[in-house]
Amino acid sequence: MLFESFSFSGLNLKNRLVRSATYEKRADEDGFVTESLTELYEDLSRGGIGLMITGNALVHPSGRSIRRMLCIHSDIYIRGLRKLSSAVHDIGGVIAIQLTHGGRQSFPILLGGHDPLAPSAVYDSATGIMPRAMTDTEIWKIVDAFADAARRARIAGFDAVQIHGAHGYLVSEFLSPYTNRRDDYWGGDEERRFHFLEELYKAVRKEVGGDYPVMIKMNCDDLIEGGLESGGAAAIALRLEELGIDAIEVSGGMYESKGKTSRQDILSPDQEAYFRSAGGVFKKRLKVPVMLVGGMRSRAVMEDVLQKGEADLICLSRPLIREPDLPNKFRAGKAAADCISCNGCMDFEKLDIVKCIQLL
Ligand SMILES: Cc1cc2nc3c(=O)[nH]c(=O)nc-3n(C[C@H](O)[C@H](O)[C@H](O)COP(=O)(O)O)c2cc1C
Repeated sequence: MLFESFSFSGLNLKNRLVRSATYEKRADEDGFVTESLTELYEDLSRGGIGLMITGNALVHPSGRSIRRMLCIHSDIYIRGLRKLSSAVHDIGGVIAIQLTHGGRQSFPILLGGHDPLAPSAVYDSATGIMPRAMTDTEIWKIVDAFADAARRARIAGFDAVQIHGAHGYLVSEFLSPYTNRRDDYWGGDEERRFHFLEELYKAVRKEVGGDYPVMIKMNCDDLIEGGLESGGAAAIALRLEELGIDAIEVSGGMYESKGKTSRQDILSPDQEAYFRSAGGVFKKRLKVPVMLVGGMRSRAVMEDVLQKGEADLICLSRPLIREPDLPNKFRAGKAAADCISCNGCMDFEKLDIVKCIQLL
């Protein structure tokens, strides 16, 4: 099934393999597209992937979580972004851009000394940072920032956008009872915690129109006590489907849940596809395509996930850092990715660009 074509919402994918959003550390210090970034996406396109999602692109300067991330918070970025999408299209690739705000997982050193913003002032034990609770005005500003970014993405020629609603960044923080302790329109119960994403989604949709694919990556579980759990996550997914979302990527974890998003040492098939049961739950309840990410390394496991109805699309991150041409290799008979999930590629401070350290 992996190499069957798959179409949804006007996107025609040549297979069911997706490059999950992966920060590249290849934008310049101001967040502009560079030749190195474009080369990466050209390599991935030539490598046979059905759909690529860029690393998280910043929708507002107050949400910077890392250096040299792609930016889309101003019209000045459109020109470079258009060059990137055109280079991919020239090779026949399909590319979406991931839109993000880092929320409490942003760093004062990257914010001109300002405190990171969050739904509530909840101390982050992973970063040692106490964020500041957002005002109503600030919340609406970020809603607008996502919508503006989506408009730019469409103008810049991207085939789709993906809202980053996972991993403890701002959108996920609003959805989570652990990080959202508000008692107003934006929090207090499940319905109100959904309002930020609801308003944001509606604003994005208004900007890009009904015919442009808007996807989301969301947590099936925050994997932290008091966080979002599977029942709440499935309810959010259903609401998003009602609102018109085009596809949902299932992930999990946050900085504080320590290593549960990109698990280490996946060395046997039974350790692979660690969110597959949640994928199955989402698939049973939803009509929109379900994309699954997390630890898939062997072709047999990927086929099994598709056969068992746990996902429509298979998303990979770390294996494609090591082997951007993995899809072509699978098609030629390779059984499993070379990636050993050592997470050396996540040593962002040390690496000049994100790459596989096993190859150094
Ligand atoms: C170097 C690196 C950068 C990542 N950057 C992003 C990102 O920008 N956005 C995102 O949603 N997930 C990001 N992730 C998480 C991956 O997309 C993926 O969810 C996770 O690594 C599990 O998939 P895998 O086992 O195929 O690597 C990143 C992971 C790695 C290793």
